[in-house]
Amino acid sequence: MSLRIAIAGLRRGASFDAVFRQRPDCKVVAVCDRNEARARQFAEAHEIGKWCTAYSDLLDEEADVVVVATPAPLHAEQSIAALRAAKHVLSEVPAAVSLDECKALVAAAQGSTATYMMAENYCYIRTNVLVRHLARVGLFGEIYFGEGEYIHELKGLNEITKWRRKWQTGINGCTYPTHSLGPLIQWFDQRVVSVCCFGSGHHYRDPRGDEYEQEDSIHMACRMANGGLANIRLDMLSNRPHNMTYYSLQGTEGCYESPRGHGDRPKVWLKSRHDDPNAWHDLSGFEKEFLPEQWLHPSEEALKSGHWGGDYFVVADFLGAIIEDRDPPIGIHQAMDMTVPGLVSQQSIAEGSAWLEVPDSREW
Ligand SMILES: NC(=O)c1ccc[n+]([C@@H]2O[C@H](COP(=O)([O-])OP(=O)(O)OC[C@H]3O[C@@H](n4cnc5c(N)ncnc54)[C@H](O)[C@@H]3O)[C@@H](O)[C@H]2O)c1
Repeated sequence: MSLRIAIAGLRRGASFDAVFRQRPDCKVVAVCDRNEARARQFAEAHEIGKWCTAYSDLLDEEADVVVVATPAPLHAEQSIAALRAAKHVLSEVPAAVSLDECKALVAAAQGSTATYMMAENYCYIRTNVLVRHLARVGLFGEIYFGEGEYIHELKGLNEITKWRRKWQTGINGCTYPTHSLGPLIQWFDQRVVSVCCFGSGHHYRDPRGDEYEQEDSIHMACRMANGGLANIRLDMLSNRPHNMTYYSLQGTEGCYESPRGHGDRPKVWLKSRHDDPNAWHDLSGFEKEFLPEQWLHPSEEALKSGHWGGDYFVVADFLGAIIEDRDPPIGIHQAMDMTVPGLVSQQSIAEGSAWLEVPDSREW
């Protein structure tokens, strides 16, 4: 099967173009960007036959797949339009920016013959994949606690990509949860049933002198369906170096901590494998036994792709689902599991950090 790919949004979309280009079974046939020069130059530089500035024109192209890599407030609307046109959708994160959009997106995905997948690429980071495999075979025992942190100071980027100032730092609550929450949901193998969100106050102003609506460090406590707790920290404002990939996991039989940087390494302690209850061990010691072959010996193409190889495997799983006619690993309900808690957290913090129930999209 050969698949024709159309891409909307040519900044993040450029990374997807590079990955689809590695695949002999795919051809990027059309690109769209509201910025005319960017669309035209990208198409010329990459020898892509069609380019346009209006998303509706992209949908008119003869393509099988649409990649939605535009700003967050457009994801749901553009995904819904593509699904209605029976085109497979790979959407950037988050899947939507309101609960109403989420409901409309679920209805569109359920009513379409096409496949929907959310491109939550941090679930595909090598260490996160390995921890998932250790969790699946029960090496952590019963998992009851986890942490995920996305610390990415973007006050400057807010001024270049202005939608971020409104949709990421212009709303109080966990506006960008999926990179931190996604891997934890997979490790727990549980959805979030309620959230309580609180913050560290306001210590920064934008260049116009306006206080950011979002508090500097947002914490979203997530009650998991098995009674466990996951704590998500989102910080896009504090003056400090990045750490977008901190995670930890605790179960009755073991624990994991990813690096906080500055020379630390991913480390694990597993009761059934390690005698000394106080000694950490390198997570990498479990690669050979537990990592699938494609991760153990990744292809050159995979190594070249963005986000530590994650982008390559997102696309591989998406295409595999289409070609083999199976559900993608981050299909519509998993996308909702990772997106909806953040939206409810915005309500929670507005209500004085009330614990609020997170609806299950499977019941919509
Ligand atoms: N998963 C990841 O690791 C990751 C990394 C970066 C960005 N993202 C996500 O990808 C999305 C895009 O982010 P970005 O950094 O590329 O943003 P950006 O603002 O740098 O680029 C967005 C592009 O979309 C274009 N655009 C805007 N409206 C459009 C429309 N209606 N139709 C077509 N094109 C339109 C803009 O002209 C611009 O070229 C965001 O949702 C962001 O959160 C995810």
